[in-house]
Amino acid sequence: MKLGRLNHVGVATPSIDQAIARYRDTLGATRIHAPFDFPSQKVRVCFIDTPNAQIELLEPLGPESPLHGFLRRNPDGGQHHLCFEVEDILATRDELLGKGMRLVPTPEPRIGAHGMPVLFVHPKDMGGILVELMQSPAH
Ligand code: CO
Repeated sequence: MKLGRLNHVGVATPSIDQAIARYRDTLGATRIHAPFDFPSQKVRVCFIDTPNAQIELLEPLGPESPLHGFLRRNPDGGQHHLCFEVEDILATRDELLGKGMRLVPTPEPRIGAHGMPVLFVHPKDMGGILVELMQSPAH
């Protein structure tokens, strides 16, 4: 596999509305997309554009959201994952499995919030960072 561009930084927050205000009013973000519910991963999502990558704000959606555990450990929110683009998600999956990486929750790519297939590598195999790999939209 070949590491592609940083697509986004996932940021968990207890309140997307408050997080949007912080990025807009404190940091001067101007390109803020409309938040939307993403029920298949039990999160509410808002993308904020920066000149070279996006921020993906993530708020729990419903009582079963996997984000609740993260927010119990980080009540104010925090960095949740990094997402890099790859050219071939299935070849990447097979290569990572061959290297003994744990893909969570399963090794089957899912459709991510950008509408492209994604995989997640367990943070324990990546130095403490949950890594999302996304099929490059340009491919
Ligand atoms: Co993401």
